[in-house]
Amino acid sequence: MKNICVIGTGYVGLVTGTCFADLGNRVVCVDINEEKIASLRAGKMPIYEPGLEEMVERNVRAGRLFFTTSYEEGLDGAEFVFIAVGTPSGVDGEADLRYVRMAAEEIARTMKAPLIIINKSTVPVGTGDWVADIISRNQPKPIEFAVVSNPEFLREGNAISDFLNPDRVVLGSLNKEAAEKVAQLHLALRAPIMVTDLRTAEMIKYASNAFLATRISFINEIAAICEELGADVKEVAAGMGYDKRIGRYFLDAGLGYGGSCFPKDVLALEHMALVHGTHPALLRAVMDINRDQRRKVIRRLRSELGGLRDCVVGLLGLAFKPNTDDMREAPAVEIAHLLRNEGAIVKGYDPVAMPVAARELPEVRLAKDPYDLAEGCDAIVVCTEWNEFRHLDMQRVKRAMRRPVLYDGRNIYDPVAMTELGFRYFGVGRPVPNAHKDKPDIVTPALPSGV
Ligand code: UGA
Repeated sequence: MKNICVIGTGYVGLVTGTCFADLGNRVVCVDINEEKIASLRAGKMPIYEPGLEEMVERNVRAGRLFFTTSYEEGLDGAEFVFIAVGTPSGVDGEADLRYVRMAAEEIARTMKAPLIIINKSTVPVGTGDWVADIISRNQPKPIEFAVVSNPEFLREGNAISDFLNPDRVVLGSLNKEAAEKVAQLHLALRAPIMVTDLRTAEMIKYASNAFLATRISFINEIAAICEELGADVKEVAAGMGYDKRIGRYFLDAGLGYGGSCFPKDVLALEHMALVHGTHPALLRAVMDINRDQRRKVIRRLRSELGGLRDCVVGLLGLAFKPNTDDMREAPAVEIAHLLRNEGAIVKGYDPVAMPVAARELPEVRLAKDPYDLAEGCDAIVVCTEWNEFRHLDMQRVKRAMRRPVLYDGRNIYDPVAMTELGFRYFGVGRPVPNAHKDKPDIVTPALPSGV
């Protein structure tokens, strides 16, 4: 059993702390937000994450997991402190490090014994060295410490299983002894542990997120080409995925990536590249394609409905992905704003994100279920691929609509079945049934003149 302190009770901090407690350690989670700590103490989770509430309750009951607003309490007896605070986008796209700085200063002022400071927040390359500098400058008297970078790769909605079954654990530190101790903490996870230097570890996190975002924009670009040529991007992705060098993950075409990580991290990496004089052309294209995935919806609906003024559009799913109530950078949010700008009336439904939606999207009329959403709609846009949407009575949905336009932004329905039901169906990168029936299967490319 080790004594661990975790600063920040957002997704990463709360899951990290709870899982380390579940592995048998004594963990104190610190957050400066009193309301959050009070509700955690009352057993109420600040986020929706399957399995988290039960795990928190179990470990609190076992006397291994504690919540406090006090750094003194958190650091009392701790050998390790994880920094897991937010790093939102700053005005220029750079990562805003104010919370990391505040945490580092507070740790420096409070620590009474040697400490290993582990940074889990996604931070620009070089932040580990900066944190070390802050600690040294703010300690009332010198006490030994080491800074280790340990980027987190968990996904919202899958956070506990991702934490407990990681593909790898990355540790960055030039202090071998500290890295070794942090490695020991992770041994129970039975995952490959890679030890490297601080800056490289920090870059591994950005490069991983940017690469996954690139795969998504790549398949979305292929989807756009598929649409024009009458190919089906779902099959294309499946066919590509059999190649072990490519793999089948993160090749789902749709409305583009959202959430609190990919948009912010790709932008921050672009910013780092620009500041240091490189030309991040690919990252720009990735962001550009992502933006266009949402605008395409508007263009399509505008042309299908003959303008959007006073049209009623229902957004099926509001969270940025299933199994979360998180709506940060969710496609639904941007689509709702674009529709409203063109004078449309927007309705919305989500199985879990309704309370968040009521706050974030006051201009959207919230429906009580998918059928209520469909009532009077001129079009429905599937924004989130919640499982329960796959099993709706689509006949009933169609009957409730004023015009049966269905934009399946997550490719969850079968285009042929939907067309047979009488929908005007549009997927992302999927042929509109019958639209290409007159085109020959093999098109002889036109030869350049002079050949
Ligand atoms: C992502 C990474 O997957 C995690 O490894 C990382 O730890 C996390 O960011 C982070 O930096 O904290 P997350 O944002 O929770 O996790 O969500 P993902 O499941 O990765 O999905 C991101 C977005 O990509 C979603 O909007 C999803 O709809 C979209 N997506 C994903 C696609 O459009 N197509 C795909 O094939 C896969």
